This record gives sequence, structure tokens and C-alpha cells, in this order.
Amino acid sequence: VLTNNSLTGPIPPHLANSSSLQLLSLTRNSLGGEIPSALFNSTSLQKLSLGLNNFVGSIPASSNIDSPLQYLILQSNNLSGTIPPSLGNFSSLRRLSLADNNFQGRIPMSIGNIPYLQVLDLTYNFLSGTVPGTLYNMSALTYLGMGTNILVGEIPYNIGYTLPNIQTLIMQGNQFQGQIPTSLANTTNLQMIDLRENQFHGVVPSLGTLTGLVDLDLGGNQLEAGDWSFLSSLSNCTQLMKLRLDENNLQGVLPKSIGSLSKSLGLLLLRSNKISGIIPHEIQYLTSLELLYMDQNLLTGYIPESLGNLPNLFVLSLFKNKLSGSIPLSVGNLSQLSELYLQENNLSGPIPGALAGCKKLEQLNLSCNSFDGRIPKELFTLISLSQCLDLSHNQLSGQIPLEIGNLKNLGPLNISHNQLSGQIPPTLGQCVHLESLHMECNLFHGKIPHSFKSLGGIIEMDLSQNNLSGEIPDFFKFFKSMKLLNLSFNNLEGPVPSDGIFQNGSKVFIQGNVKLCTSIPLLQLPFCNAEASKQRNVSSIFKIVGFTVLSLVLLSCFATIILKKKKKLKQEAHPSCKELKKFTYANLVRATNGFSPDNLVGSGKYGSVYRGRIESEEHEVAIKVFKLNQLGAPKSFIVECEALRNTRHRNLIRVITACSTIDPTGHDFKAIVLEYSVNGDLGSWLHPTVHEDGQRRPLSFGTRIVIAVDIAAALDYLHNQCVPPMAHCDLKPSNVLLDDFMGARVGDFGLAKFLHSYNSSDIHTSTSLVGPRGSVGYIAPGNIF
Ligand SMILES: *[C@@H]1O[C@H](CO)[C@@H](O)[C@H](O)[C@H]1NC(C)=O
Ligand SMILES: *[C@@H]1O[C@H](CO)[C@@H](O)[C@H](O)[C@H]1NC(C)=O
Ligand SMILES: *[C@@H]1O[C@H](CO)[C@@H](O)[C@H](O)[C@H]1NC(C)=O
Ligand SMILES: *[C@@H]1O[C@H](CO)[C@@H](O)[C@H](O)[C@H]1NC(C)=O
Ligand SMILES: *[C@@H]1O[C@H](CO)[C@@H](O)[C@H](O)[C@H]1NC(C)=O
Ligand SMILES: *[C@@H]1O[C@H](CO)[C@@H](O)[C@H](O)[C@H]1NC(C)=O
Ligand SMILES: *[C@@H]1O[C@H](CO)[C@@H](O)[C@H](O)[C@H]1NC(C)=O
Ligand SMILES: *[C@@H]1O[C@H](CO)[C@@H](O)[C@H](O)[C@H]1NC(C)=O
Repeated sequence: VLTNNSLTGPIPPHLANSSSLQLLSLTRNSLGGEIPSALFNSTSLQKLSLGLNNFVGSIPASSNIDSPLQYLILQSNNLSGTIPPSLGNFSSLRRLSLADNNFQGRIPMSIGNIPYLQVLDLTYNFLSGTVPGTLYNMSALTYLGMGTNILVGEIPYNIGYTLPNIQTLIMQGNQFQGQIPTSLANTTNLQMIDLRENQFHGVVPSLGTLTGLVDLDLGGNQLEAGDWSFLSSLSNCTQLMKLRLDENNLQGVLPKSIGSLSKSLGLLLLRSNKISGIIPHEIQYLTSLELLYMDQNLLTGYIPESLGNLPNLFVLSLFKNKLSGSIPLSVGNLSQLSELYLQENNLSGPIPGALAGCKKLEQLNLSCNSFDGRIPKELFTLISLSQCLDLSHNQLSGQIPLEIGNLKNLGPLNISHNQLSGQIPPTLGQCVHLESLHMECNLFHGKIPHSFKSLGGIIEMDLSQNNLSGEIPDFFKFFKSMKLLNLSFNNLEGPVPSDGIFQNGSKVFIQGNVKLCTSIPLLQLPFCNAEASKQRNVSSIFKIVGFTVLSLVLLSCFATIILKKKKKLKQEAHPSCKELKKFTYANLVRATNGFSPDNLVGSGKYGSVYRGRIESEEHEVAIKVFKLNQLGAPKSFIVECEALRNTRHRNLIRVITACSTIDPTGHDFKAIVLEYSVNGDLGSWLHPTVHEDGQRRPLSFGTRIVIAVDIAAALDYLHNQCVPPMAHCDLKPSNVLLDDFMGARVGDFGLAKFLHSYNSSDIHTSTSLVGPRGSVGYIAPGNIF
């Protein structure tokens, strides 16, 4: 037994040929090459575990008919080819796992003849065709995993009798069809049923007899609710923790019996169905509920006051329904709430200040409703708001409270399409991490505040269709990351700055400001008189001459085309306030080609980093997979999640999401999905290895300074602006990543530490100690406190 090491190379022949070997376990190493066929012909070997290595090739056919092999575990390798029918002659097998390889072709019928097989796992391969009937006829089977393949066909109607001992049935992500057999209700040992993303239709069967059921996932099919008696029957499943019925054809009114579901239910997913009627207030009895998704249905009536009695609620998603009335004050009791989505309903009344009770709220979307009244200033005590605040398309009025400046972590802010008035509060300039600011279509007047000078990281700013006056601030030209500045239809006056972003007619929009003038003709405005343009330098006069001829010819033809094209681009690039991404293990497997070594871009003490492409993501991502068997690694994951939860800065690595789940082998799996930094890490630029040498030019002095300033900005943010402040504790070149423009982003927060206030009682409780801080290349200077 040599599990959990770093062994490399092939399995030595003399080991494979040993005639007395009974047990060989090499799980979790980096072994490669083909698996010696001698192992399959052995007459002594009883347990063979080669999972989580890099073995290639196919499983050799074997004529061995009296193999004593009981365990054959080959999951998570790079094996390919078809599954040889001769495996069916290994009649002593109890466990057979071929999951997470590249096997293709049909599942051989002979597998079903292995008499005592208890665990059969074929998940994450490319197996196709129908499942041989013999597989559903294995009375000893407790675990059947066939998920994420290309299998077709129906589940036999009598599966409940032919698999009497089955506990886990995983068939998700195939092309299975037909009805879900009612006989499943007779396999009373079932704990987990996962039939997600197939083409099952018909009414969901009543499974109330499965008293041990923990996880039922029927999402992504074409199932119907019938008279909803299946839901009432589930109330006898007192162990149920996860119920997913999303993306089906469930119709009709949710029964009150929803409140009698298991007290342990943590996840209830009903989104994207055709459920109508009111949300039953009995839902309040599901006191363990953490994630409640009922968006994209036809729900009507009020949001029940009683939702406030769900103390563990973390995500509440009710968007795109027909809910009316106001937000119940009890929402403020949801102290764990992190994401609240109520957009696209018919909600009205004021936004309750009670929302300030949701101290962990990171994302709030109330857009596209009929909320009126003022924006309560209590809302701006929520310094946790970082992912998004969207109040657009309502009837909000009055001034923006000055307290908005508290939202120091906020990225996107959208208050457009309301009737907000008064001046833009200068405190908005304190929201230094704004990336997107939409205030268009309101009644704001006065000048663009000078404090906007500190919004240097902003990508989009739309102040159009207000009544803003005064000059366009000159400092906008220094905003390097800005991709859109829309100031159209205001009352702005004076010269339009001519440098930086203003040179690019596809980024700046200023039409409908009759008093603006310009010194660059591309902007199609009257020229400024000498007085105003005195400050412009000589070079721009040359530009004028050069561009005038061109512009007169081209502008009228292309202006509209550019406008249209840009608008489309913009919508794709920055969707406002979307729900936080949630990826499954299967998503990550697909993204990284099964965590293939080709995708590995780095490896550290606690984790490996893979680059990959996730279908729903525009850009490539980096996936940091934690090596959970390393002492400290699980804690490192939590530290990193905590640290990145509320932080947001253009010089910190951006987190797309975290993923904590169980892999097909039943082990904990934890990963963080980050943006991928094209230019790798600073360490490899400063100290190139021989093999990289040829490709990378040395960093220029100027670039080095820019990188140093970026890192300093990130540290200033962590130490002085972040709440609570944080020490990175592992700052070194290999933890500084470089984006496509050689901008620096500090990453790897696995050793970070929160610095609570200098309050003495907190000194010894600074969170998340992971032993001595630092790693090869850097050790934090002692205990700061
Ligand atoms: C299993 O063993 C029997 C007896 O040797 C043989 O006839 C048969 O072909 C073998 N099956 C497979 C699939 O190799
Ligand atoms: C299942 O097993 C029973 C008896 O054990 C047998 O009669 C039946 O033909 C088998 N069905 C299939 C599809 O192999
Ligand atoms: C199978 O379950 C159904 C519904 O619970 C029940 O009516 C039937 O008697 C069961 N059949 C057997 C053979 O236990
Ligand atoms: C729950 O189980 C009890 C006893 O087994 C049975 O009497 C009752 O009808 C079941 N309830 C539902 C809703 O299936
Ligand atoms: C929940 O909210 C309501 C309304 O704001 C309040 O009256 C009640 O005391 C709160 N309950 C708890 C347990 O905090
Ligand atoms: C700029 O604002 C105007 C007025 O709100 C709008 O019509 C136009 O589409 C906006 N342009 C872009 C590129 O967003
Ligand atoms: C816009 O502001 C100007 C002063 O800057 C004022 O005279 C005018 O009435 C305002 N227009 C509207 C529609 O509020
Ligand atoms: C203007 O901006 C667009 C989009 O960011 C970019 O593709 C184009 O190269 C820029 N043009 C100039 C002249 O900078």
C-alpha cells in the first residue's frame, strides 16, 4: 500500500508478475504508462486500486476465469478504449470503478453476470448505446453510477424489484428517456437518486416509502407534477436534505404540504417550471433551508412574511415571477442571507430599511419592479454588498443618501431608470471599487462630482439622460480600464477632453449636450473657441487637421453602425447583476478535460491549478483544486473563501466561484474558480527557467514599476480599506499574476489572516490560523500582533 505519495513512472514488471501479491494499492500518485496485463491475469491478487494516477491505454482482455479479484478501482486515470467483456469473468468482484476515464463504446452485457458485485461506477466516460438489461438485474448492487456518458434507453419498469439493495442510483447527464418507474418506491434502501439532465417525462412518482432518501435530483427533464401527490408523499422521507426539481414542466399550485417536507431539507430547487398560485406560508417550517430557488415560474400573491422564519437562508431567489405587494419586513431577520433576487416581478411599495438586518448580503437585485419612495439610507450600512446592487427600472425618487459612500466593496451599482433627483452625492466617489455605475434615465442635476477621480478602476459609467451640467471632468482621460462612458442627453458644457478614452469614439457617448465643444473633430461637435481650447496642446491641433478630412467622409456612414455594434458587445460583456455562478464537479471535469495534466499550470503545497474553459464563461478560467489530504489544506480552502468573499479590487485576483462537493469516488472535493491570468505569475518572469527562457523577454524597468504600484495598491486595499482588514501573509512573486496588459493581481489567499480591530479581546482570536505562515520563498515577519 503506497497511497497518497508522489510516485511517478510505470508499475515495475516484477511487481506486476509477483505470484503472491494479494493487495496492491497505489491510489493518488502520479504513476503513468499502461497497466501491466499480468495484474489482470494474476491468480493471487484480490484488491487492485490504481485510482487517481495518470495511467493510459486500455484494459487488456484476459482469459483469466478464476481470478480472485474483489476490488478493481481504476477511476480518475486517462484510460481509454472499450470495456473488455472478459471483465464479466471476474466473478469474485465486489467493487468495480472505471469512473472518470475515457472509456467508450457499449457497456458489455457480461458485467451484469458478476454475481456479487456491489459497487459499479462508470460515471464520467464516453459510454454509449443502451444499458444491457443484465445491469438492472444485479441483486447485490448497492451503488450504480452511469452519470455523464452518452447512454440512451429507458429504465426498466421493474427496477425496484430487480435491484432490491440499491442505495445510490446515478444516471445524470445522459439521454435516457421514458417515465420514471413507480417501482423505484419499492427499493427501500435508496438514499440518492440522480436522474438530472435526461429526457424523462411523465408525472414524478411518489417516493414516500423511501424513508432513507437524502438526495433527490430530477432537474432538467420534462417531468410533470400531476396532482402534486408526489410532494406530499415525500414528507415521509425524513432524511431528505436536497430536493431538485428545477427545469421541468411542473404545473399548478404548490401544495401546503411543502411545509411537511423533511426538517433537514437544506436545498429546494424549483426554478424554471410553470408553478402558479401563491408561495404557501407553510414553507416557514423548513427551518434548515439554506438555498431556496423558485425563480422563473408563474407565482403570484405576496412574498410570505413567514419567510423571515428561515434563519439559515443563504440564497433566496424569486425573480421572474408575478409576485406583488411589498417586501415583508421580516426579510431583515435573515441574518445569513447572502443573495437576494427579486427582480422582474410586480413588487411595489418602499424598499424596507429592515433589509439592513441582512448583514451578510453580497448581492441584491430588486430591478424591474414598481418600488417607489426613497432609497433607505440603512441599505448603505451593508458593507458586505460587493457582488451587485441593482435597483434599476423602478419608480424610486428623492435624493441618493450620502451614506452610499459606505459601499466600499461594491463592484456593480445600477440605479438607472428611476426618478431619483438632486445632485450626485460626492460620497459616491468613496466607492472605490465600482466597476460599473449605471445612473441613466433619472433626474439628477448639478455637476459630475470631483470625487469621481478616485473611481479609477471603473469599466462602465452611464450618466446619460439626466440634467447634469458643468464640464466633463478632465480626469476621465486617465481612466485606463474604462470601456464605456455615456454622458449623452445632459446639459454638459465646455470642451470635451481630447486624450485617453476620449480619443476613441466607440467608448465615449456625448450626443444631446448642446453646449459641448471639442478640439477633436471625430466627436461631431462645434469647435471650442480659442478661450476654451487654449489649454489644449499643440499636438491636438495637428490631429485636427489630419482627422478632419477622414472624418467628414467616414463619420456619417459609420457612426450608426458603430453605435449599434457596441451596444450589442456591451450587453454580452457586462450582464448586470447576474446570479453568482455555481458549478458542479461535472462542469469542472469537462472544463479541464478531466483534470488532464496538459491543463495543469501550477502546483503548490495545498493545491494544483488547472486552466480550463467553462462553456458559460466568456474567458478561460483557472481552477485551483485543493489537495485535501495535505494537512491544513481543507482549512486553507476555507481561509481562501472567507478572504475572497468580500474583497474586490482590480489588483486582486478575481474569483468566479468556489465549489465544495463530493467527487465520484466519494471524497470531498474543493476548488476555487478564478479568472485565468494569461501572462502567468511574476515569479516565472523574474526567474525564468531554461525552458521558458526563449519565449519571455525580460521585464522593462517601466513595467516593473507599474507592477510594484499595482501590488502596493492591492496591499493598501487589504490593510486599510478592506473590512475587516486582512494580511495576505504569503506575498511573493509566484503569487502575483499578470493579466493580458501586464497588470498585476495578487492571488493565493490560502494563508491570509483577518486583522480584527486593535481591540484587545480580539488579539488572540484572529481567525483561521494555518500553522506557521509563509511558504517557500517568503515567511511573514513574525506575529504582527
Ligand atoms: C469467460 O470464460 C469462459 C470460459 O473460459 C469463456 O468461454 C468466455 O469466452 C469468457 N468470456 C469472455 C467475455 O471472455
Ligand atoms: C434477471 O434475472 C432473472 C432471474 O434471476 C431472470 O429470469 C431474468 O431473465 C433476468 N433478466 C435479464 C434482463 O437478464
Ligand atoms: C411496491 O410499492 C407500492 C407502493 O408503495 C406498494 O403498493 C406495493 O405493494 C409494493 N410492492 C411490493 C411487491 O412490495
Ligand atoms: C407516511 O408513512 C405512514 C406510515 O408508514 C403512512 O401511514 C402515511 O400514509 C405516509 N404518508 C404519506 C404522505 O405517504
Ligand atoms: C422578525 O421580524 C419581525 C418584523 O421585522 C419582527 O417583529 C420579529 O421580532 C423578528 N423576529 C425575530 C426572531 O427576530
Ligand atoms: C448612451 O445613452 C443613450 C441615452 O440613454 C442611449 O440611447 C445609448 O444607447 C447609450 N449608448 C450606449 C453605448 O450605451
Ligand atoms: C436642468 O437644469 C437647468 C439648470 O442647470 C435648469 O434650468 C432646467 O430647468 C433643468 N431641466 C429640468 C428638466 O429639470
Ligand atoms: C477603441 O476601442 C475599441 C474597443 O475597446 C478598440 O477595439 C479600438 O482599438 C479602440 N480604438 C482606438 C483608436 O484606440
